[in-house]
Amino acid sequence: MDKAQVFLYVIIFLFSLFSYMFLSKRKGESSIRAKLPPGSMGWPYIGETLQLYSRDPNIFFANKQRRYGEIFKTHMLGCPCVMLASPEAVRFVLVTQAHLFKPTYPMSKENLIGKSALFFHQGDYHIHLRKLVQGSLSLEALRHQVDDIQDIAISTLDSWASGGHVINTFHEMKKFSFEIGILTIFGHLEAYYKEEMKKNYTIVDKGYNSFPTELPGTPYKKALRARRRLSKILNEIICEKKEKNSLKKNLLGFFLNYKDDEKGGEVLTEDQIADNIIGILFAAQDTTASVMTWMLKYLHDDQKLLEAVKAEQKAIYTNNCHLTWAQIRNMPITYKVILESLRMASVISFTFREAVADVEYKGYLIPKGWKVMPLFRNMHHNQEFFIEPQEFNPSRFEDPPKPYTFMPFGSGVHSCPGNELAKLEMVIMIHHLVTKFRWEVVGSQSGIQYSPFPVPLHGLPARFFEEPTS
Ligand code: HEM
Repeated sequence: MDKAQVFLYVIIFLFSLFSYMFLSKRKGESSIRAKLPPGSMGWPYIGETLQLYSRDPNIFFANKQRRYGEIFKTHMLGCPCVMLASPEAVRFVLVTQAHLFKPTYPMSKENLIGKSALFFHQGDYHIHLRKLVQGSLSLEALRHQVDDIQDIAISTLDSWASGGHVINTFHEMKKFSFEIGILTIFGHLEAYYKEEMKKNYTIVDKGYNSFPTELPGTPYKKALRARRRLSKILNEIICEKKEKNSLKKNLLGFFLNYKDDEKGGEVLTEDQIADNIIGILFAAQDTTASVMTWMLKYLHDDQKLLEAVKAEQKAIYTNNCHLTWAQIRNMPITYKVILESLRMASVISFTFREAVADVEYKGYLIPKGWKVMPLFRNMHHNQEFFIEPQEFNPSRFEDPPKPYTFMPFGSGVHSCPGNELAKLEMVIMIHHLVTKFRWEVVGSQSGIQYSPFPVPLHGLPARFFEEPTS
């Protein structure tokens, strides 16, 4: 065990101790006479945190589920938790009784993204913000972005193939999804602002998954500073757009044009806008990039399937290179590959909520203040819902999955408003990749690394080559 690990365990221990002391005060206060779900709370104070972090988290969850069933309790990272792994239980928490479970994130992460980002909220503020975000990411809005996304995909692929060097696919996909995020938020943004956003956002991104200490020189402290610079840059962009009166139908335009009529025409503050822009960039980047990286791996590992995708794409390929909206909406094989990649990779393995009151579910008590975790990945890999779940088999999506068994984009009031954009990026990337390029994965090691989302080991090092088009 190295020093960093010892330090981490000490911090987890102290955090667990404080939250245990706080939560144990609440014992016996419940108004509901129901028993807690089955499960083990692990050791005093630290719960089962070490068990979770000392092995593959998916095995930890799967073993628990096998032993206790669809709902079980545990204690980790200082919090008592109830985990849910059945369609019914997940629907209860995310959809039908969503008002009883609020989103919950560590304070250190909220401070970095910005407290006003929509995914930290419930109620009216969340509803208003979500409408704006959904509007800018609707199919109608995305139709107008297809050409720009294609230009970005083509120049990205050209850059990978030029020089023939090995690239880290995940890192490159991150750059691609960041560019698309910027496009969706601002439309065309001046190169200077784009560079400044990229530079500072990268520092925030690094700090997000680091230990949250504000000691000078630490990645977290640097990230907080970069976050403040991002706010300044965003304010400059907003001033300029307002001056030039160039408020288009992109997300920034939606934010700036918003007026709350019920509150006398109240507008969004600059901080609210900045927090939501950073929030969208954050929600959009690693998620999309890791699924695309997995998709390239799955296709590379199944050459027969790759040939089928190529045949579908080549049939619609034209020399002017640009896909039409109608073509994009009609790619059955490619679309199933995307769905199966989302299922297999399950990059958002679970999410967190916190019970805002004592809640009873199927005779079990979920006490107020406990964390509640719907386990998406466990459901996506449950053979009851997906036959031979470890096999990559896009044809399983010829029939729609049973309700609430397939939730790569979550469900209910906080489900992903960017899901159509994410799929559009993937379709466009795949089309231009398989019609004009080929790729070779470098090295024979297979495995997963957590960054923090699961990605192929070392980000899937690969070489890309341009192919003559026929
Ligand atoms: C493959 C890519 C993506 C995956 C797998 C994904 C997955 C998810 C999931 C599971 C949630 C729900 C989390 C919860 O219930 O706690 C979510 C929420 C969200 N996603 Fe995505 N996402 C992806 C791409 C995107 C993109 C491209 C955008 C924006 C451009 C985006 C913006 C958001 C936002 C803003 C929320 C919070 C919604 C709310 O709280 O109301 N996501 N995403």
